[in-house]
Amino acid sequence: MVKMERIAVLTSGGDSPGMNAAVRAVARTCMFNDKECIGVKRGYEGLIEGDFITLDHAAVGGIIHSGGTILKTARSERFKTPEGREEALAQMKKAGIDGLVVIGGDGSFHGAKALHDMGFPTIGIPGTIDNDITGTDETIGFDTAVNTALDAIMKLRDTATSHERLFVVEVMGRNAGFLALEVAVATGAEYVVVPELPLSIGDLTKRLKSSYRAGRSHTLIILAEGVMTAQEMREQLADSGGYDARVTVLGYIQRGGHPTSFDVVLATRMGAFATENLMIGKSGMMVGNINHKLVLSPLERAWSEHKSLSPEMLSLMNKMN
Ligand code: F6P
Repeated sequence: MVKMERIAVLTSGGDSPGMNAAVRAVARTCMFNDKECIGVKRGYEGLIEGDFITLDHAAVGGIIHSGGTILKTARSERFKTPEGREEALAQMKKAGIDGLVVIGGDGSFHGAKALHDMGFPTIGIPGTIDNDITGTDETIGFDTAVNTALDAIMKLRDTATSHERLFVVEVMGRNAGFLALEVAVATGAEYVVVPELPLSIGDLTKRLKSSYRAGRSHTLIILAEGVMTAQEMREQLADSGGYDARVTVLGYIQRGGHPTSFDVVLATRMGAFATENLMIGKSGMMVGNINHKLVLSPLERAWSEHKSLSPEMLSLMNKMN
């Protein structure tokens, strides 16, 4: 039986709403099982520097609904080097840490896998607004980001309707269109443009023309940042169809704010599940929520297996327009 008395937790990569609830769940699960919990500041950077804090009951009190991450986060170049990883391992050994929970996206999971391969027990929790991780239906923060975008776009719709305008709204999502597609269905947008599907501006302007002819006075296009910028799309729409689109880039607003109840509950379930599995010797795995059930799958699935957009959601977009 693997010794697991002191468990560390870190948040890494882009922050996402619900990360604090996950940190709290890891810490409280440790306490429930009479284990110690250590928080690592600034992701893998803090791991290399031995920047650790004790996460006792009070340290994680009152954070369940707060956005961002109390542990801070960073993208670490140093951890990508063998020297950086050796140093991180040495710091954890020195602090008597027996296992690590990594909360983040696929970049963070690469780091977790490297530690696992070096023989250090490590488990991952998917936290990113992009929802681009295979092995889970939802990542922590995705639902909140969709709702944040929905709030903003409802306001844009009002002014788009009054002025009978065409709006292009750029949403995040890195190279994937999960956020854009969900936002498009939730807002009742007319079009969605995602990296997973080829886009022809010519086709889009043809469709715009026929929908204007059919009486549509305003139009909302949701654009995933992985395709092009909203400004580029604005120029292409002007060049190929003479359209005068207004653009809005939602940007980092999508990463902030207090998490929705869905994300708080998901984060709490995943935090507890990850910690309990680490305690019984599981390593090199990530937690996922598949069909409402928590499961473990190998960390490398996050980047080796492609996660596809839901065909049902794509077809909904067509049916609703
Ligand atoms: O992965 C989350 C995310 O917000 C992406 O949607 C976005 O492309 C990226 O992070 C932005 O990263 P950074 O915080 O490094 O600018």
